[in-house]
Amino acid sequence: MVTLTDRAAMHAWSREQRKRGKRIGFIPTMGALHAGHLHLVKQSLAQTDCTVVSIFVNPSQFGPKEDFDRYPRVLEADREMLAQAGCHALFHPDVTAVYPEGFQTTVAVEPLGSDLCGRERPGHFQGVATVVSVLLNLVQPDRAFFGLKDYQQFVIIRRLVHDLSMDVEIIGVPTVRETDGLAMSSRNRYLTDEDRRRAVAIHGAMVAAKTAFEAGEKGAARLEAIARRILIDAGIHRIQYLAVRSADTLMPVKVITAQSVVLTAVKVGTTRLIDNVLLT
Ligand code: PAF
Repeated sequence: MVTLTDRAAMHAWSREQRKRGKRIGFIPTMGALHAGHLHLVKQSLAQTDCTVVSIFVNPSQFGPKEDFDRYPRVLEADREMLAQAGCHALFHPDVTAVYPEGFQTTVAVEPLGSDLCGRERPGHFQGVATVVSVLLNLVQPDRAFFGLKDYQQFVIIRRLVHDLSMDVEIIGVPTVRETDGLAMSSRNRYLTDEDRRRAVAIHGAMVAAKTAFEAGEKGAARLEAIARRILIDAGIHRIQYLAVRSADTLMPVKVITAQSVVLTAVKVGTTRLIDNVLLT
């Protein structure tokens, strides 16, 4: 596995792969890799000829009171995991390689980016959309893989790639979970033992909504109430949002007639966790 750190080297590597007729798969990450990331790598290895993973803790997607400084940075462990997994290239740029001096461009996908998580984290999705645009232009992949745990992020990136006519296929990969159902996340390591036990209810709430939907309940408000009850009973009171939305556009839904998604963001202790479930 090669490690690339600057724009020119990343471009040159991708150009070389293309010249050889190789299809490039790309997984952008912020590092602190876990089995969920490795699952994305596996999908990329199966669907393309060479796989690039980027590790970049993007300052522009963190709010002033968020965890940018304490976000886990474990490059050597990440590098080892990626090499073991068969990844071909690690792109690990520093801030100036992503945002060179004089950088002035912002990519905003609105109003999608100001809803749900965007309401709680103003500017977050502009940071994500901007960095992902830069990274896609640097790596020039044929396919880019995103975990569906960050469902709103996935919809925003799919939208921006379509709107800006970027020549890349965006692939959403189902969430990888711990054995008790908690969605894997680099932030799970912040949870205390007590928080960790409580956090299981997040998936429980999503499953309860899905079970009720499959049993015939099609009212969004009713499904939201069922899921909310599970969270509250587990002692999770800080529910930033819990909403049933269109799976395609994330627009509000009253009665489910097409594929929808239940999404939630909650605070467990000091940790913000998100999850969702598709209602198909
Ligand atoms: O999902 C993430 O890890 C980040 O939001 C991403 C897509 C790597 C952009 O920094």
